[in-house]
Amino acid sequence: MSEPLFRTPKGTHDVLPQDHQYMTYIKKAVRHRARQAGYKRIDTPMFESRGVFERGIGEHTDIVEKELFTVTGKKDNEGKAAEFALRPEFTAGICRAYVEHGMQQLPQPVELYSIGQCFRYDRPQKGRYRQFHQIDLEVIGLKDPSLDAQLIYVVTKILNDVRILDRLTLQINNIGTAENRQAYVAALKDFFIGKERNLPEEDARRLQTNPLRLLDSKNGDTQVLVRNAPKLEQFLSGESKQFHETLLEYLDELGVRYVPNPGLVRGLDYYNQTVFELWDQSTGAQNAVGGGGRYDGLIELLGGKPTPGVGFAGGMERMIWHMKEAGVRVPDKDQVDVFVAQLGPEAKKKCLALVSELREKGVHTLGALGEASLKSQMRLADKFQAKYALLLGKMEVKEGTIILRDMQAGKQKQIKYGQAIPQVIKLLGEKNLDTYVLRDQIGEVDED
Ligand code: HAM
Repeated sequence: MSEPLFRTPKGTHDVLPQDHQYMTYIKKAVRHRARQAGYKRIDTPMFESRGVFERGIGEHTDIVEKELFTVTGKKDNEGKAAEFALRPEFTAGICRAYVEHGMQQLPQPVELYSIGQCFRYDRPQKGRYRQFHQIDLEVIGLKDPSLDAQLIYVVTKILNDVRILDRLTLQINNIGTAENRQAYVAALKDFFIGKERNLPEEDARRLQTNPLRLLDSKNGDTQVLVRNAPKLEQFLSGESKQFHETLLEYLDELGVRYVPNPGLVRGLDYYNQTVFELWDQSTGAQNAVGGGGRYDGLIELLGGKPTPGVGFAGGMERMIWHMKEAGVRVPDKDQVDVFVAQLGPEAKKKCLALVSELREKGVHTLGALGEASLKSQMRLADKFQAKYALLLGKMEVKEGTIILRDMQAGKQKQIKYGQAIPQVIKLLGEKNLDTYVLRDQIGEVDED
């Protein structure tokens, strides 16, 4: 094969049909669990005003400082151009939509979910891409630990449905209120006075801009210092502690297993109180499969009335990786049931109708409508891994018959032409037919 002229940009990949089967499987689980729990689907644009993310996620977070894919619009008459960014996540955009559409008027909490592409201009490596997919759940408008617990419960259900929950641990922490953290950050800065020289350049800068990030620094020197630094726990108010204790009680009640992790802070600024992540049991914090938490100040930051919220996002590529590692087999919905082969102009005409009719009945059907010999058409049927083949030659047309071949067994028999469809359906089994009905208005619609 010659070298292709173009390839996907670094950090992106094509989702090929074999990977779509996993994606579809995950999406189904998400839609199913979301509907059960009253979440409704929302799709926000893939790009937003840059400010949505700068304000929402925080100017001094890695995501905004280093990883935003920015897009500059065209200059207007005054020579100004709008600044957009591709969404690095869903939460900020969904909260922007909540404010924009006056969703505070709706019965609260408003539960929304979304599935789609996100973009982060990070250095690509295993499990980290510049374009990736997230599943996202948000519960906006009420504050109660039972909402955090229920959200986490739904998340564990989804992960269990796709059979990867037992490969993960749920790490959970409470990072207090904004005031709790302010007091803590002041203490942390005090502690580091005179120690800045021992910090790597990036962490020294973070000490000024976003000191909490030092807590989950990957740098060994920083980690040693952090071990002796004051602990966030000591600065949590009674209210925060109570909130967390109640949440953990609810999780116990729901049978959700978790690992309390006082060092967990998360990389987005909008969090307060609950934060959680799903870690790979063997690799820990690296390549978390998902994460989330409470963001009671975010909507106000985006111009709305103070409105609490809690949510979660999972990375689909990382979920798929785990599914493959765990040997999870997803149904192959693209299999070919019947391959229709024909020879001669009369047969070809009849086959056109036969192929359409089989498809209408829910049989996945391919037809070789070219001019190749029957033998090479059979080879094609084999390559497509068709379960059955129907062969119609000049003789069969004349006799009103057709040949039905079991491709795996390599056996064939001549049957009446009119028997072709009923026989195929019988062999495949009614329940395996791919019939799809848009249920009238009230039913569920199996959207993509
Ligand atoms: P996050 O932890 O930044 O949280 O991302 C959630 C998940 O998206 C990660 O755990 C990971 O699986 C996946 N992910 C993130 N970046 C990449 C990447 N570059 N390549 C592949 N996968 C990636 C959020 O995005 C928050 N919005 C979660 C949330 C929702 N909090 C409240 N509501």
